[in-house]
Formats: sequence, C-alpha cells, structure tokens
Amino acid sequence: MVAKGRSLTILPTQIVSIAYLFLSLIPLLVDSQCTQNPIIFNFGDSNSDTGGFAAALGHSFGPPNGRLYFHHPSGRLCDGRLILDFLCESLGIENWTPYLESLRPNFTYEANFAISGSSALPGLVPFSLSVQVLQFLRFRTRSLELISKGYQGFVNEEEFKRAVYTIDMGQNDIASSFFYFPYAKVIGRIPSFITEIENAIWLSLISEIYQHGGRNLWVHNTEPLGCFPQQLATTGTYATDFDQCGCLESLNNAAKAFNKQLQALCDELRSDQMMNAMIVYVDIYTIKYDLIANSDEYGFENPLMAYCGYGGPPYNYNPNVTCGQTRFNVCIEELSYVSWDGVRYTEAGNAIFASKILSTHYYSTPQIGFGYFCNA
Ligand SMILES: *[C@@H]1O[C@H](CO)[C@@H](O)[C@H](O)[C@H]1NC(C)=O
Ligand SMILES: *[C@@H]1O[C@H](CO)[C@@H](O)[C@H](O)[C@H]1NC(C)=O
Repeated sequence: MVAKGRSLTILPTQIVSIAYLFLSLIPLLVDSQCTQNPIIFNFGDSNSDTGGFAAALGHSFGPPNGRLYFHHPSGRLCDGRLILDFLCESLGIENWTPYLESLRPNFTYEANFAISGSSALPGLVPFSLSVQVLQFLRFRTRSLELISKGYQGFVNEEEFKRAVYTIDMGQNDIASSFFYFPYAKVIGRIPSFITEIENAIWLSLISEIYQHGGRNLWVHNTEPLGCFPQQLATTGTYATDFDQCGCLESLNNAAKAFNKQLQALCDELRSDQMMNAMIVYVDIYTIKYDLIANSDEYGFENPLMAYCGYGGPPYNYNPNVTCGQTRFNVCIEELSYVSWDGVRYTEAGNAIFASKILSTHYYSTPQIGFGYFCNA
C-alpha cells in the first residue's frame, strides 16, 4: 500500500546475507565546518524517508532493509543510508528523527516529514506535500510555544528562519500517473504537480514555507524513473521505447518534462518573488542517470537489476514478491548493485550520488554547496 498499483508492498521477513559492497572505496566529502549548528526540515517520499512511514502506519519495512549499515531495519527502504543521510552527515547531523516518531524523538536540529509512497498531489498515502507542510506548521507553532515556556531541545524563531528546507517530491506523482493514463495525459498532469510544490514553498497563504519565515530551500528534481527495475519488469514486457541504456524513454521523458518545469519554478521564485531567499535546484536526474549509463566506471554491475528482489535476470523484480517478502531471490555473487529493491537505490549508490552533490557544485543551480546553509 505504499504506492499505487504496480508498486511496493513490503512485508517483514528473513534476513539474507548479501555480498558486501565496496563502500570504503567511495570518497565521502565532509563539507566545510559549520559556523553555527545547521537546522534542517525535509519533505518527501521514500527517497528521504528515515522512518516516517513506519512511525505513521505502524508497518515496518522488514529485513533485509538496513542490513548493511544499521544492521537492522531502520525505517528506510534501503540497505543503509539515503542521500539525505549523507548530506546531513556532511554537516554533522546524524539520525534524523521523523516528525511522527513518538519514542525518544530529538528535534533539536531537524525534523523529517517525508513518508514513503507520498506524492505532491494527494494520493493513496495520506501524507501528500501539503499535509507534510501543515505538519511542519504545527511543529513550528508547538516548538515556539514550548520554547516560550522554557523547554529546551526545540527550534526557535531565529533557527526557523535560517533553517534549510529540503524537498524531494514528484516521483510518485509521475509513476502513479503512468499506471492510469497514457503518456500525453501524464505530461498534461505535470503542471498540477508543480503547482503543489509551488504552493508548499510560496503561494498558498495558509500553508507555505516562505510565509512562515523559511528563506533557504534545497529542491531535488526527480530521477530517471524509466531505469527502475520495477518499471522495466512490469511495463517493459510490452514497451518498445528503450534508450541506449535499456531504460524506458517515455518515463524518463516525463521525468525530464517535470524537471524542466520544476527548474523554471525555482528560477521564477528566485528571481521575481521570494525576496532574500536562496532556492537551490539540484539535478538528481543527471547524477543518477550518469551512474546507470556508466556503471562499470563506478564499479557497479547490473544497474537495471534489483539487488533485493525475485525472479533473477534481467531485472530481478516481481511485483508479487518484492524486497522484504518471503521467497525473494538471494543474490549471492560478489556484485555491486545500484538498485536496492527495484525502485530505491543501495547505500553504495546513494553514497556516490551524495558525494557528487557535495564534491562538485555543478549539479546545483545556483552552484552552491549544501554547507552554505550553516555558514550563511
Ligand atoms: C539531541 O540531539 C542533539 C544534537 O545532536 C544533542 O546535542 C542532544 O544531546 C540530543 N538530546 C537528547 C535528549 O538525546
Ligand atoms: C502476480 O500474481 C498474479 C495473480 O496471481 C499473476 O496473474 C501474475 O502473473 C503474477 N505476476 C508475476 C510477474 O509473476
């Protein structure tokens, strides 16, 4: 029930031992020392969910999720850390607390509103972007109230202003649209996804970030959905539009169309409307596609095959038996994989993506690093 239709249903099960990935070879840069403690709020889907879905719905993502880094399921759909984890570690923040975590939360420096399966527009998972922003506003109000009563460990007014607000949303809007609509209709729906993101940042007077003091935004574009083993295994049987990497062009073209409009929105808000704000647009698509297209140069094999899945080559993905359910295929070869469960990436992949964001600012518009926000 995480996403619509041909998507992920994850049930707890057995642990498998899978080959160790060559993480020590991956350069992870630590950004410049912060001159003040960073404050981060995140909105998104499974790309940045650090336990929100599990906290909200009481449904844990079972083993082998978390096996490589946390050594137990951590609420992430991954064997280890997500891009967001790496970005925040570069600023000295570890262990994101999901907003809905009720046991020993720690909201001193950050709160994560991301929930797996959520979308910009309201969808099956009841935590669309506007709901996540409303939760943030409640968090903000409560945090200020508690501080005024003398409590510690919450975010104050000045910190809300200098916080960075990260957004990674849109993937599930596109993927679920393809489930119901033909290509032209999917493309026609994209402006409605962009409007939701605009509302979250700027437009809607009741629930937006800028209106409540947020001035630093870090916006990830969406990824090459047409390279997901999940999409290839389920759509690919009747598809004909493969590109030179073996990805589905229609899905990737929709992702590109979405990204173009998202970039235009960021440009427009930056130049015209949001005074004294910094809006950084990050080209995740290019970073991920580059790794898939040149996977051998990075030491990866089978970029279009899920590491944790069922059915074997070419995609090792079966929608009836997804990662974490019984009977999935155990990959025993010492291979390095990019795709974890057919949709999300492995820790090894995420480490490369994050190191690219942190090491070269080429992928950001304007070209500034994540560390900017704790030194501004
Ligand atoms: C919460 O996190 C902050 C920052 O990492 C840390 O200094 C503080 O000790 C933590 N508080 C608790 C109660 O664990
Ligand atoms: C999944 O299960 C359905 C219903 O049992 C079946 O029709 C379908 O062929 C299965 N799909 C795959 C890829 O095995």
